[in-house]
Amino acid sequence: MFVSNNLSVNGKGHLTFADMDTTELAGRYGTPLYVMDEEMIRENMRQFRSSMDNFYQGGGLVCYASKAFSCKEIYRIAKAEGLGVDVVSIGELYTAMSVNFPAEKICYHGNNKTEEELSLALDYGVGWIVADSFGELELLNRLAENKGKQAKILLRLTPGIEAHTHSFIQTGQIDSKFGFTIEFGTAKEAVRTALSLPNLVLDGVHCHIGSQIFEIDPFVRAAEILIGFIADIRDTLGYDLKTMNLGGGFGIKYIPADHPAAYQNYMREVSEAVKGLAKEKKLSLPYIIIEPGRSIVGAAGITLYQVGGVKEIPGIRKYVSIDGGMTDNPRYALYEADYEFILANKASQDKNDTVTVAGRCCESGDLLGKDVPLQQAEIGDILAVCATGAYNYSMASHYNRVRKPAVVMVKDGTSRIVVRRETLDDMISCDI
Ligand code: LLP
Repeated sequence: MFVSNNLSVNGKGHLTFADMDTTELAGRYGTPLYVMDEEMIRENMRQFRSSMDNFYQGGGLVCYASKAFSCKEIYRIAKAEGLGVDVVSIGELYTAMSVNFPAEKICYHGNNKTEEELSLALDYGVGWIVADSFGELELLNRLAENKGKQAKILLRLTPGIEAHTHSFIQTGQIDSKFGFTIEFGTAKEAVRTALSLPNLVLDGVHCHIGSQIFEIDPFVRAAEILIGFIADIRDTLGYDLKTMNLGGGFGIKYIPADHPAAYQNYMREVSEAVKGLAKEKKLSLPYIIIEPGRSIVGAAGITLYQVGGVKEIPGIRKYVSIDGGMTDNPRYALYEADYEFILANKASQDKNDTVTVAGRCCESGDLLGKDVPLQQAEIGDILAVCATGAYNYSMASHYNRVRKPAVVMVKDGTSRIVVRRETLDDMISCDI
């Protein structure tokens, strides 16, 4: 009935999330409120791990892409579930290390990592630094040399794949700010450069073709291209690239019309392709890393708001105003992203109205959805927006000096705050 199977309606007609009454959560912790389902997060992590173990015999690591949702607690959970993590800034790295995340299971990404960031990554001894440019290779080698260290690296490659998703979140195409292009020989040149730098240990290659992708084919194609590259490097330069990081990008269900492929099928098909090609090219099986972000936390999150106003412009549109908006969820403003909306206190009623959900910022584009189906809204109702666990809290901003909401984790019928709501003093804490 709903987009995610942890949503239901209780005897009071209230929306439940992981068996918790969402109106009670809103009452207890206030709104706006991010709520995350810990069991679903753990279950998703386990599914990725077991599909890797079941279908691939060459060894591998599931690295949770923490840009999707980053706070201390998610690194604790990923650590407990035996995952690695992908980080893309010193902030994510620092947060992970603040809970003693095993550094050797961290992949450090970014198309313009600073000297400060690379230096800290070396000090912590992260597992892999994913080098993105020639300048970075030189800088990293110099920093490693100064510290008397060797930096284990992957090279980020752009395989020339255009996955079917929003153009803002496509990353595998040739016209991209990321990585070394395989076509034109740039990637091979990067291999030569890395091999010539004494303080770099070239362990393998990486690609990430985009996000919110429903088909399996582009992932298989990307894996084939990387295997082809690995074989070419062995044949022409005599060097064995051992690790292949295939990135993340697996789509989730935001609205009933979305039909993402099952993640087990992804791992099965990619494994088959890799095993077949490796055999054909007489390569030993590479160690595979995958980096799911959205697919681990997306459906495991929901955001609760309070309705503060309902305005009907006759014959034009009905606006429902909420106490959050683009500051806690910029995805509609950025990508016109779709969501499922439910009035949590009227969840058993029909959605017989069509409304535009407006945020509270001084900006007409501050919407969460345009002309979406909803129950009849009144001031004081609790609005639930589903599948907001990924790229909502992590992309929240302070625009209009709006404070960031709290994040509450629910599990086994209990709830706890994992990120507290910001205070007014937090808001001015950096101001001189
Ligand atoms: N690995 C790398 C190198 C990435 O750049 C990303 C996402 C991932 C893994 C994880 O992708 P996922 O499994 O979450 O699709 N803000 C956008 C999404 C941007 C994704 C950026 N990179 C959104 O809200 O849709």
